[in-house]
Amino acid sequence: MPAMRIRKAVFPVAGMGTRFLPATKAIPKEMLPVVDKPVIQYGVEEAREAGIEQFIFVTGRGKHVIEDHFDHAYELEALLTAREKTRELHSLLESLPNTGSVSFTRQQKPLGLGHAVLCAQHLVGNEPFAVVLPDDLMVGQPGALRQMVDAWRVIGGGVVVAAEEKPREETQRYGVIAPGVSRGAVTEVLGLVEKPKPSAAPSNLCIIGRYILPPEIFAELERRERGAGNEIQLTDAMARLLGKMPFHAVTTTCARYDCGDKVGFLQANLAVGLARQDIAPALKRIVRALDVGD
Ligand code: G1P
Repeated sequence: MPAMRIRKAVFPVAGMGTRFLPATKAIPKEMLPVVDKPVIQYGVEEAREAGIEQFIFVTGRGKHVIEDHFDHAYELEALLTAREKTRELHSLLESLPNTGSVSFTRQQKPLGLGHAVLCAQHLVGNEPFAVVLPDDLMVGQPGALRQMVDAWRVIGGGVVVAAEEKPREETQRYGVIAPGVSRGAVTEVLGLVEKPKPSAAPSNLCIIGRYILPPEIFAELERRERGAGNEIQLTDAMARLLGKMPFHAVTTTCARYDCGDKVGFLQANLAVGLARQDIAPALKRIVRALDVGD
């Protein structure tokens, strides 16, 4: 009987971030800040709130600053201590994962999201786990992954993906669900297609970047079959599990901001900034005063 807990989360962070060049020439896109925290940190905090104890990063070349971010920065900590800057010091220390809870592995070739998850197999082992795509910044309480873990427990296991209805013309950007019966926020998944044209999409219910997966996914990923974009797709491997176990989509109450997109990233900064008591008043004044034209 597998443990009915989700202890581990995989963060695929090997992507090159070409959409944000030149900003991402020397900095990983996951380190770009939304207000004052890097995008990746929001994902890690959300996972921690969902009960995750092991954080597994699938990185690539040029991503070592992500490792540094989740480690002590002794000189900085000493300086802040000496200057009695306790608030700043606290902001550094509260984001540090516990000793031994972070691991890194590399995706040596950009072969797709499914391949990135496969790279973490030896660290996940034989237990259910979460996948968090940090580009999808989820804002709300309880956190998106928390809501999914709760649903997964009630259902009794299997696959759970986060989903959101999107305009039809956007289906080519997502994994799209053929939905069955819905009960509240939980919808049965009958089929999945990765990045279909709107005319071929089974619905407009799209997967967004949060997953709870059983260890059986690895055998499907091991097939290394190429799908959309000639990549090894997580969606295709998940589709092979349909009918073999419970499979559901959860529509969370959180807002999603696509930080992999320029406009989505700016929207995330505005939304998070406007929700922050320390900067919202000044930001509101600036936004109101903007002459945005048509
Ligand atoms: C990935 C998945 C896709 C999912 C999306 C959510 O696509 O392949 O199924 O809908 O994340 O953000 P990507 O954004 O990496 O192209």
